Amino acid sequence: MLKNTSDSYGWGARLFHWTMFLIIAGLVIGGNIISDMPAGPDKTTLLGMHKSFGVVILFLAVCRLIWRLANERPQDLGKSPLENRLGHAMHIFLYVLILEQPVIGILMSQSLGYPVSPFNMATLPTIIGENAHWGKILLNLHSATGGVLAVAVTLHAAAALKHHFIEKDRTLLRMILGK
Ligand code: HEM
Ligand code: HEM
Repeated sequence: MLKNTSDSYGWGARLFHWTMFLIIAGLVIGGNIISDMPAGPDKTTLLGMHKSFGVVILFLAVCRLIWRLANERPQDLGKSPLENRLGHAMHIFLYVLILEQPVIGILMSQSLGYPVSPFNMATLPTIIGENAHWGKILLNLHSATGGVLAVAVTLHAAAALKHHFIEKDRTLLRMILGK
């Protein structure tokens, strides 16, 4: 089923979830590798890919949020109301992170004087002009929130595994198989 039901996730939500997981994992790992590389053509090529896929994530995150709001949320399977509430709070926090991380990346690139041209197809409009001071602040912020995202996803995945292996409920399976 395309849409969610009160019992499970439809393939729309599942496709968003796992496609974005793969791209974001690549962006976090790739971002850390790129930032340690010396300046040169290899770094420029990888950075171009990082920026392009980062813009793709921003687009997908906006579409996913709209899809999420247009769908019902499957009922919680956890037995602890507190843990269920923490789970929701984490989902909201993850949405904030996948929206702000690419936005900061775009602002950082522009303020450092580098245009953002996803896959060399078109150049994004300038939101912030060249400003080395802001560029440095935004670079530090992009790096810090990248770390926060990695920690948040690890906790979120650990909670999913706890549901599966300890509580033995269908929370993980319904996000993978939809049943
Ligand atoms: C969800 C999307 C994104 C994630 C998870 C992400 C993650 C990261 C991470 C973890 C780093 C390494 C930071 C460090 O350790 O210093 C990084 C670096 C960077 N990212 Fe992103 N990023 C995303 C989107 C973007 C976007 C959209 C742009 C620009 C259009 C961008 C531009 C950069 C740049 C310029 C660097 C610096 C590389 C260097 O240090 O030379 N990122 N990113
Ligand atoms: C970039 C990494 C990830 C992000 C940003 C993310 C984000 C989210 C969000 C926002 C939701 C709420 C449903 C929705 O609106 O789509 C969710 C649900 C879920 N995620 Fe993730 N997720 C990530 C990685 C993972 C991983 C690695 C696992 C498993 C190992 C996982 C397992 C689940 C499960 C089982 C649910 C359903 C939870 C429930 O029904 O209460 N996620 N995820």
